[in-house]
Amino acid sequence: MNKLNDLTQTLLMGPGPSSVSPNVYKALSSPTIGHLDPRFINIMDNIKFLLKKVFNTNNDFCMPVSGTGSAAMESCFVNLVSKNDKILIIQNGYFGLRMENMCQRLEANIDLLKFDWGKEVDVNIVEEKVKNTHYDVVAVVHAETSTGVKNDIESISKVIKDDSIFLVDAVTSLGTIDLNVDEWRIDAIYSCSQKGLSCPPGASPISFSKRAIKKMKDREGLIPNWYLDMKEIIKYWDGNQRVYHHTAPINMMYALYQALLDVEKEGLKNVLNRHKSVHNQLIQGLEKINLNMLVDKNSRLLSLNAVKIPKGVNDLEIRNKLLYDYDIEIGGGLGPFAGKVWRIGLMGHSAREENVKKLLKALNHLL
Ligand SMILES: Cc1ncc(COP(=O)(O)O)c(C=O)c1O
Repeated sequence: MNKLNDLTQTLLMGPGPSSVSPNVYKALSSPTIGHLDPRFINIMDNIKFLLKKVFNTNNDFCMPVSGTGSAAMESCFVNLVSKNDKILIIQNGYFGLRMENMCQRLEANIDLLKFDWGKEVDVNIVEEKVKNTHYDVVAVVHAETSTGVKNDIESISKVIKDDSIFLVDAVTSLGTIDLNVDEWRIDAIYSCSQKGLSCPPGASPISFSKRAIKKMKDREGLIPNWYLDMKEIIKYWDGNQRVYHHTAPINMMYALYQALLDVEKEGLKNVLNRHKSVHNQLIQGLEKINLNMLVDKNSRLLSLNAVKIPKGVNDLEIRNKLLYDYDIEIGGGLGPFAGKVWRIGLMGHSAREENVKKLLKALNHLL
C-alpha cells in the first residue's frame, strides 16, 4: 500500500517545519524545467531580489543553499572560517553547540562564551570578551529555537569590532521577527525555508556582505567542502553566463519563490505584526489555563514559545494526543528542558489566529 495515502494534514505548531501554504503546494507542482533554462534563471534572479527584501539588505550576495538550514549554516562556516582562524561562538542553546561542532571540523581556534539555556545573551559580557581580543569571526544565534530565547543582535552588533566577521543564525527569525542585516552590520547570515517562509525544508537562504565575500575570496587553498563552495556556486547564481555546479532543486526553488512573493504581497511589516499578534493571543490563552512560560518576557522569541509542563502532566502523552486526536504537532524540550517544556511554534502559515484557537482549545480539553 502507498504510505502517502495514510498522511493527513497536520497543523504544524512545533519548532519547525511549519505548515506549508496552499500557494506553495501549488508552486511545488509547477512543471519541472531545466536548471539552465532561461526561465529558471529568471526565477533565480527574482528569488535573489526578493531575498534582499526579507533580509533587509543591499547585499548582492543573497541566494538559497540547496539543503536545509544546517546546509546554509555549514555554507557560512565552511566558506568563512579557515584553519586556525580565531572564532568566538556565543552559546545559549542547542544551535550554538552545532556552530561549535562545525568549527571543530574546520580546525578553527575556538573561544566559547556560554550563557545559561533559557536566558538571553548578556551584551556587556560580550563587549568585555571582545574588547582586547581579535576574532576573525564572531557567531551567534538570533532566535534560539531550542529554548525560545531571542538574542538582541542589534545590541550585540554594536559591541563587535570592525575587524571581525559577524555571523548570525536566522533560521527561526527570518520572516517571523525583526531582522535588519545591513543596519545590524551582519556579515553572514543563514536561514531556512521551512519556518517563517511556510515552505517544505530544502532551500535555505544565505547572504554575505562585501567584507565576508572578501574574506572568502582572499583565503588560501580550496574551500574544504565541494558541495557548499560558494566561490563556485556563485557562478551558477550570478553573472551573464551561468555555469553548472549541481542540479538545483528546481521545484523547491519554485516553492521559495512563491513564498517570497506571498511575503511581498502581504507586506513584511504585516507579516511580522501577524506573528506578534498571534504570540500575544497564545500567551493570553495559556495564562487562562494556568500554563507558564520558560523565558522572561523581554527575552521571549515570539515565534517559538517554550511553555513549562505542569507537575504531574506527562509530556509525551499530551503531545501524542495532540497529534493523533487533534492533528496538531507541538515540540518537546531539548537538552536540560527535555520533558520539562513544550515548544510551540508560531511561524509562517501556521501563525494564524484560527490555529492558536484550535491549539488552545485542544490543550484546554487535555489538561
Ligand atoms: C536556530 C536553528 N539553527 C539551525 C537549525 C538547523 O536547521 P535544519 O534542521 O533545517 O537543518 C535549526 C533547526 O531547527 C534552528 O532552529
